[in-house]
Amino acid sequence: MVEAEDLQSLKMVALLGGCRGPIRLSSQSLGNELGISPQTASRRLIALERQQFVIRSMKPDGQYVAVTREGEQALKREYADYARIFNPERRQYSLTGAVISGLGEGRYYMSIPHYKEQFGGCLGFEPFPGTLNIRLDATSIEVRKQLDHAGWVDVPGFTADERTFGGARVLPCWIRGQRCAIVEPSRTHYPEDIVEVIAGCELRKVLNLNDNDTIEVEITHD
Ligand code: CDP
Repeated sequence: MVEAEDLQSLKMVALLGGCRGPIRLSSQSLGNELGISPQTASRRLIALERQQFVIRSMKPDGQYVAVTREGEQALKREYADYARIFNPERRQYSLTGAVISGLGEGRYYMSIPHYKEQFGGCLGFEPFPGTLNIRLDATSIEVRKQLDHAGWVDVPGFTADERTFGGARVLPCWIRGQRCAIVEPSRTHYPEDIVEVIAGCELRKVLNLNDNDTIEVEITHD
């Protein structure tokens, strides 16, 4: 999770234009905008840079700050939360299906540190090692086909120990109030009636789920 103070500073950098490229921003002026001392503002910028939410550079005429893709995603997650609070009906997609067991592959992939970091970085939670498999009902298979235009985030593939690991895309969603995400591997033919979901917690335990239980996956899209 992003600290509340960091988020506030990140939002201010974005409001000042930092999502469109580097902006000249002294710690003094960021401090003025946030009502904090230049020293505190400087510490906040350093913290944001450490988390790779901004990039700073020093030029002869002062400090430049730009919001990174990761930073923008952190703000978008916050935005999605507000959309859910204030506009719960807006373009909500709902998938329903039955919990099923897979072959244990999710646990393998979600234990690979690189995937864990990549997914965690763009979703804001550290995924539990595994995927919850859901077999969609007939209506939801059709709804799923409309999801191509929703807010998927691409996670690129990578090579480690001379092995190639494919990329994937993830779509933030909610199951019974738990923040989750649908994961789809790229370049793999995937059965149209199965979705795989990751979450920060063990969903079977937290939501007391067993095979064949019906669950609803909610996706908010703007
Ligand atoms: O064995 P299977 O392929 O179904 O699952 P897995 O990906 O190896 O995950 C291990 C177990 O944790 C399975 O029973 C999943 O349904 C469950 N799981 C969960 O409860 N919550 C998650 N966030 C992910 C997986």
